[in-house]
Amino acid sequence: MSRRPCIAANWKMNKTADEADDFLDPFLPSQSADGPEVIICPTFLALGRVAERCAGTSVRVAAQNMHFDDSGAYTGEVSAPMLLDIGVDGVILGHSERRQYFGETDEDLARKVRRAVEAGLEPILCCGETDAQRESGDMEAVLSHQVLTDLAEVHTEDLDKVVIAYEPIWAIGTGRTASDGQAQEAIEFIRSLLRTRDDAKADLVRILYGGSVKPGNAEALLGMPDIDGALVGGAALDPDDFGAIVAAAGNG
Ligand code: 13P
Repeated sequence: MSRRPCIAANWKMNKTADEADDFLDPFLPSQSADGPEVIICPTFLALGRVAERCAGTSVRVAAQNMHFDDSGAYTGEVSAPMLLDIGVDGVILGHSERRQYFGETDEDLARKVRRAVEAGLEPILCCGETDAQRESGDMEAVLSHQVLTDLAEVHTEDLDKVVIAYEPIWAIGTGRTASDGQAQEAIEFIRSLLRTRDDAKADLVRILYGGSVKPGNAEALLGMPDIDGALVGGAALDPDDFGAIVAAAGNG
């Protein structure tokens, strides 16, 4: 059983299209197809430019959100066919910032994940607990609810088309990385949840860690048996730092 490592850059609300070019100029020539899967997730406005630049390279491109319907009266939203139309390969779904600031629910996410898979976009489904939930011993209950609800509408044979990112909220943007052991334990638990759907598929699903991943801690995190990659925020804004994290996955 081997899972190809995946390193994704979540640029969040950073970088204009021109700033994206400034990142890609040094970054793209440093990437080769035999390394980990590398995914860049820019804002909607830079997506087209980044997709054009990455076409024909090994680097893939994902959005940071999408709607579950294909079209309709949903002001401000973007759909799966629209993303596919400009050459996008995947989509981050259920990031904690979208859950926290934009009221995204697990019921919405179940529909979004299903639609992404049906449309042929690779979803990166995020889950993770708050500090308070971890302290009160509720981490497993929170992860179970998120993961099992958000994947409920995905057919079992398609489960391995979903990438999962475990991002403990207390570790995002705080510099407080989960220890290798904490991240491994939570991700192993998430894999055990997938086993309740299908044992063989659970071994194929890639589960990433996210939360203050930096060049200095990437290799140790990526060396853990159940951690198949990283979803990187702050350190992914710099091509050298992100390149170092990608290189660490190659060594893992
Ligand atoms: P940081 O790497 O900045 O902690 O962000 C993690 C994250 O939220 C990636 O989606």
